[in-house]
Amino acid sequence: MPSKPYVKLNAGDPDVEAPKCAVDAALDAIKKGGDWTHYGGAEIPKQFRLAVVDYYKKWIGPEYKESQVIPVAGSSAALYIAMASVLKEGDEIILWEPSYSNHYVMLRDMGIKMKIPELPREGGYHMDIDKLASYVTKKTKAVLVCNPNNPTGTVYKKREIEAVGDLAEDNDLAIFSDEIYLHYVYDNNKFVAPSTIGSLRERTINIMSFSKTFSMTGWRLGYVIVPDKYLAKAQTVAKVTAPRPATFVYPAGVACLRSDFKYVEDRRKEYQARRDYFTKAIDDMGMPCHRFEGAFYAWFDARKYGLKSDDFIARLEKAENVALSSGAGFGTKQEGFIRVPMTAPIPVLKDVVERVKSFTSKL
Ligand SMILES: Cc1ncc(COP(=O)(O)O)c(C=O)c1O
Repeated sequence: MPSKPYVKLNAGDPDVEAPKCAVDAALDAIKKGGDWTHYGGAEIPKQFRLAVVDYYKKWIGPEYKESQVIPVAGSSAALYIAMASVLKEGDEIILWEPSYSNHYVMLRDMGIKMKIPELPREGGYHMDIDKLASYVTKKTKAVLVCNPNNPTGTVYKKREIEAVGDLAEDNDLAIFSDEIYLHYVYDNNKFVAPSTIGSLRERTINIMSFSKTFSMTGWRLGYVIVPDKYLAKAQTVAKVTAPRPATFVYPAGVACLRSDFKYVEDRRKEYQARRDYFTKAIDDMGMPCHRFEGAFYAWFDARKYGLKSDDFIARLEKAENVALSSGAGFGTKQEGFIRVPMTAPIPVLKDVVERVKSFTSKL
């Protein structure tokens, strides 16, 4: 019997190409050559930084100086710059679980102690703001908010961001704001950037990327926006450790940021339709599936089958040729959960649902 075609849904990698304006701008730059295909000098990154400043002002609110924007090859590097600019071995940070696995990996590697409140499932994975202060010690230096969150898709309410802000101000903490899914927010939910509240902009480091907004994971383009108090250190960290974008990728970024964002709105609607279909279909199978508010990940509870997440996905892959991601990487209390990025069209998601049904019916 021929095996079913392989379906890979274990990474948050959009299933479409970058906007045409990005492709055209990069190709044009490559064809022009000269500065565009060499180190490139100061003007090309400057134009990119100015586009970022205009983009934040227009779409999110805060006004930045061009010098506060540090372009990097993807937001993983941006996260590293943020962490290394503020934290040193032995410091403590507060971040929530479940959370993007690389947050833990980077912090662990840097010798940072993590205090990890759980996002309660019952409340739709929102913060228990009354308990926040109990996680702070004299060693706490920062708080990391991933909003919308990967993998739960939580879009934090204004009062949650305000509570984090109060905590940061009371204890002089930096706020790392991983905002890379900010354009993918559904229903009546609204993304609130910490940097738009009071004076939090002075202590918030924004981490941003083109990977998800513009489906440009392989282009490796992101940036970090750093307040004055951490800027000199961040510039040094960036210079010595962080990979810079390829010169001809900058104009692609500028073209995206100065576009009308129709591409992004079309993607948002598509992810929302996929969410509506998939989360209900999995829920109807008796595995509670979170109807996420933002980002593009379905997150479901398969604990009734008594398998570890890693075993569930390994056995599913062997039986049905479909790769999903194990919840275990997203936190120590996430055993039995499974994450599925909505990065395939609905007909493929329907096929995945049938395969999961066929697999679980034999457990
Ligand atoms: C929350 C979050 N931050 C950062 C990243 C890193 O993205 P990139 O390095 O492609 O910009 C990811 C990737 O999945 C993510 O989910």
